[in-house]
Amino acid sequence: GPKRGVMQRFTNQLQPRASSFKVAVLGAAGGIGQPLALLIKMSPLVSAVHLYDIANVKGVAADLSHCNTPSQVLDFTGPSELPNCLKGVDVVVIPAGVPRKPGMTRDDLFNINANIVKTLVEAVADNCPDAFIHIISNPVNSTVPIAAEVLKQKGVYDPKKLFGVTTLDVVRANTFVAQKKNLKLIDVDVPVIGGHAGITILPLLSKTRPSTTFTDEEVEELTVRIQNGGTEVVEAKAGAGSATLSMAYAAARFVESSLRALDGDGDVYECCFIQSELTELPFFASRVKLGKNGVEAVISADLQGLTQYEEKALEALKPELKASIEKGVAFAQKQP
Ligand code: NAI
Repeated sequence: GPKRGVMQRFTNQLQPRASSFKVAVLGAAGGIGQPLALLIKMSPLVSAVHLYDIANVKGVAADLSHCNTPSQVLDFTGPSELPNCLKGVDVVVIPAGVPRKPGMTRDDLFNINANIVKTLVEAVADNCPDAFIHIISNPVNSTVPIAAEVLKQKGVYDPKKLFGVTTLDVVRANTFVAQKKNLKLIDVDVPVIGGHAGITILPLLSKTRPSTTFTDEEVEELTVRIQNGGTEVVEAKAGAGSATLSMAYAAARFVESSLRALDGDGDVYECCFIQSELTELPFFASRVKLGKNGVEAVISADLQGLTQYEEKALEALKPELKASIEKGVAFAQKQP
């Protein structure tokens, strides 16, 4: 109401904007971690970047620390230094883990990354339980439910502050749609819902802004390209890794949005994978409004008036997403 508006302006005059937040990156020496740390170092909203990894983080920190942007860079190596890395931070970003390598099954990847995420989130619960937690480590459809279970076991779970980072799906959707329809890139915004793997990624092309029309063939081609964007990069890199630069860009955008929300900006919207009541699934990616306390509102309007194609794709993704969520929950619950 208007009263709150006046009060808000009054408060803003008394208190300078905080504009100075601490961000921790766990897995900071990795393919995603390094460029992500660089982009975070460039943010005017950041006062300190805490870099954690099990190895090689000292060099990354020394290198970054020579950039003459305002934030301080601190390095932390190994589990004994993890608590100090996390104390006092506002946002924790987790790109730690292994990307899939030739000869590795999905189950191998799941087991390694599930254990890494579990261990790291336990430390977050013990040292900065109020921080926003951004999970990048795949499979996000399972690692986010694992993180939720760990936080519940520790008695500090706030579903509004736990996010699976799906920003790369939105970034890809925006880029591919702009190219296809010859639109100015900066203007294009496509909401992407569901999950963060294969067919669970559902770009809502009918909700593209600015309003754009697509033929059935274009919808099919764009949807499949957005869902398989990761594979495009893996194949082009030919054994040398997966998406790291575009992922770092996308993760940095999600960090910046979170910091703007923490700083009191009332107009911050992002898609992300969160605990959700939008569908019958316990976790679901959708557009949300971010505020000082995390998720402030879920934008349910995006799911109204879907095209037939989108309705069908939504129903088709649910069994796979449900199974991935349950796999994560089961993993976390069977641990001692
Ligand atoms: P990478 O292997 O280059 O880097 C991973 C880093 O994590 C390494 O520096 C490693 O030392 C570190 N690490 C391993 N165990 C750790 C632990 N217990 N604590 C702290 N750090 C630890 O891999 P990359 O390419 O950076 O990918 C990282 C993760 O991000 C993978 O799980 C990958 O699947 C995922 N990913 C997610 C995307 C998304 O859209 N959410 C997109 C691309 C990748």
